[in-house]
Formats: sequence, C-alpha cells, structure tokens
Amino acid sequence: MIQAANQIHRITRNLCKAITLAEVLEIIVKQVFRAFQADRGGVSSYDSEAQEIIVLRTVGYPPKIVDKFPKIPIQAKFPLNEAIRIKRPIFMETRKSILSRFPEAVSFSPPGLSPTESLGVIPFVVQDRVIGGISFSYFEPKKFTPALRNFILTVSHQCAQAFERARLYDVEKAIAKENAHLLEEARAALQFRDEFLSIASHELRTPLTSLSLSAQLRSLKLAQKDSAYFTPENLKTITDSDNCQIARLKRLINDMLHVSKLHSSKLICESQETHLSQLVRTTLDGFSVEFGILGYQVTSNIEDGISGKWDSLRIEQVVTNLLTNAVKYGRQNPIHVELNRIAQGGARLTVQDQGYGIPVEDQERIFERFERGRLNSEKNGLGLGLYIVREILKLQAGTIHVESEVGRGSKFVVELRNFSESP
Ligand SMILES: Nc1ncnc2c1ncn2[C@@H]1O[C@H](COP(=O)(O)OP(=O)(O)OP(=O)(O)O)[C@@H](O)[C@H]1O
Ligand SMILES: [Mg+2]
Repeated sequence: MIQAANQIHRITRNLCKAITLAEVLEIIVKQVFRAFQADRGGVSSYDSEAQEIIVLRTVGYPPKIVDKFPKIPIQAKFPLNEAIRIKRPIFMETRKSILSRFPEAVSFSPPGLSPTESLGVIPFVVQDRVIGGISFSYFEPKKFTPALRNFILTVSHQCAQAFERARLYDVEKAIAKENAHLLEEARAALQFRDEFLSIASHELRTPLTSLSLSAQLRSLKLAQKDSAYFTPENLKTITDSDNCQIARLKRLINDMLHVSKLHSSKLICESQETHLSQLVRTTLDGFSVEFGILGYQVTSNIEDGISGKWDSLRIEQVVTNLLTNAVKYGRQNPIHVELNRIAQGGARLTVQDQGYGIPVEDQERIFERFERGRLNSEKNGLGLGLYIVREILKLQAGTIHVESEVGRGSKFVVELRNFSESP
C-alpha cells in the first residue's frame, strides 16, 4: 500500500514537471509501465475528427509491428479502440478471454513474440472527451486485484492530465510559432512598402519637376508675349523634352505596378502570338527622340520574322528596361541591339553599350530588388528595372545574364524559349 502511494507520488511529481508531449510520453513508457510491471505497452492519442488512433510511443514491441500500425481506425476490433469507444478501462486476465473478445489482437503478438496472457487498456478521458489512452500487457497471467486496478487507474488519471496539458502546450507553441511567422511577414511587407514608397516618390518627382518647370516657363513667356520663344524649332525641342519626361513617368509607373504585382505574386504572363522582331523594332523607335536628345548613336541588327508565344506587353517591358539602362549608363557612347533566332525557334536579344560597365562583384546583385551598382550612384533609379526583367523572364522560362567590363561597357543577353515550337 505504502509502496503504491510512494510510486503514485513519484510519478505524479515527474509528470507535473514534464512540459512537452515528448517528455510525458517518456515518463509513461519508462516509469508508468514499469510501475504496472507490464512487459509491453503503448501510448496513443485519439483524433476524434479523423476517427483514428495514433500510436505515439511503444515499449517492448519490435519496430516492424509498431510501423505496421501508425494509425488505427477507431472501428478496428482492438482492445484500446473499444476502451476509447466505450470510454471505460478494460482489464483482461486470460489469453482465452482476450482472443475470444478480440480475435484480431493476435496480430500484436505474431509467432516469435511472447504471447500476451493478460492486458489492460485505459482511455485518457479529460472533461468527458477521450484524448488518447494506454495499453499494456503481460507475458504471464496477471491478476488485476481491486488494489492493483485502483493503483493503475489513479496513475492513468495523472497521465491523462499531463498528456492533455502537454498537448495544449504543444498546440500553443505551434500557434505562437505561426504568429511569429505571420508577424515577420507583415513586418517585411511594411518595410517593403515604406522602402518602395520613399524611393518611388523621390523618382516620380524628378520628371514631374522638369515637366512643371517647362510648363511654368511657357506660361511666363506667354504672359510676356515673347513670340521669339514660340518658334517652330524651339517648340519642337520643348515638346521632345516634355515627351521624354512623360515617357520616363510612364516607365516609372509601369515599373511600380509590376513590382507591386510581383510582391503580391499577382504578376501573371499571358502568352499570345508575338512578333518579336517587330516588337523590338517598335520599342527601339519609341526611344528615337530620347536617343536624339541625349546624343546616342544606335545601331541594330534584327533578324526578320521571329515570332512565338510570349506575353508581348511584358517582353516590351524587358526591352524597354534594358534600353533605359543602356541610355542611363551608356555615357553617350554607341549602343547596339541585336535579335537572333536560336535553337528550337527561341530568340536571343542583346543590348550592348560602351558605358560605365559593371564590376564583377555587382553582376549578380543588380538583378535583386532595390539593388543598385556602386559605380553610378549619382544616377537616379529605383533599382527595380533589372529585377522586373528577371522576374518577367522567369515567368516565361527565359533567362538573362550580363557580360561586362568596367570602363568598357555592358552587354545584357536575354534568351527566350519558344513553347509553340517545342515537341
Ligand atoms: N547598362 C548598364 N551599364 C552599367 N550599369 C548598369 C547597366 N544596367 C544596370 N546597371 C547597374 O545595375 C543597377 C540596377 O539596374 P536597375 O535597372 O535594376 O535599376 P536602376 O537603373 O538603378 O533603377 P530603375 O529601377 O529606375 O531601373 C543600376 O543601378 C546600375 O548600377
Ligand atoms: Mg534601370
């Protein structure tokens, strides 16, 4: 009696100290089953939604048997299943009674394993809910006296309480982890938004300031009735310059839309028959005023009739961003654009300038979001152009890389696969 009370006291104290489910299971298999003097035992949880018993830990069974029963449907005719269904413990003292009530239980002690002569199964009932249970068995017939039953039920009750506490603790820990993850995501999204807005507003202001200065100057000249200012040649220069700023604004806004879509994974590419040769020529034509104003000499070699299934708007964005960079970083030296067919109807576009060039250590980094090269920090920019290009190409199974030498210029090479011609 005293010995049982001591055991209950010791096990309860240890169970109280256990925090995680793994710790509770360890105490059950190492201390509880030993206190029951059982030869084998197992602890399971019960998932009432899935109607399944999940075996969590066992002792005394070879792994090949344990592996056979990771999850057991509650309807299976095993002792623990029945105890969980009826929410009551079952004690069986003879092999004969076990086999007549649970013929299928024989699969737990196949030939070669010591047969079960007696067993006990106790469901873990907490606030009228069954959350799991233990089963334990003996190689020798066991008499479950009232005192022994009492002892087993008292210890099992402590196990059930500890099991539930640990389960809740693990669930809470998982929720806390998930919350921390969500918080981190929200923080990153906020940081992205702040960073993006501050760079974007700065960038938008430059062409806007230039446009508004030009408009103010015109108003002033009109008020002064300065007809010399409004000669056709002067008007052409002013209009060209305004158009450049408007084009720049359009590109910036396009980039911003793209990047916010990329950030929320909403950028989708729709492929339609695209006349790539034509698209590259038209895009180049769109830059002619800018090339003229900035004094760029541009040559091109565009193979005729290249077409395929791509998203034309997005590909135009790729060409535009590369040309914008060539203009921005080309130091007024000649620019050369080439478009060629490659294997299986694919295409290679290269945009080559003879400007600043890009140090080797920057050549990967510049394709990342907000990353800018270190050589030309005096030039304005969001650090998004190449990131958008790379992401658009990824969505269309295309690639981009740069070949560059500082002081000699850069060559950006885009390769597009053509899915309409793939086997
Ligand atoms: N043709 C080029 N020659 C030299 N450096 C270049 C060239 N193209 C890109 N870079 C470098 O790569 C960096 C990233 O280019 P990216 O186009 O992504 O951003 P950006 O031009 O700075 O800004 P924006 O978002 O307005 O395009 C640039 O800041 C520049 O340092
Ligand atoms: Mg750029």
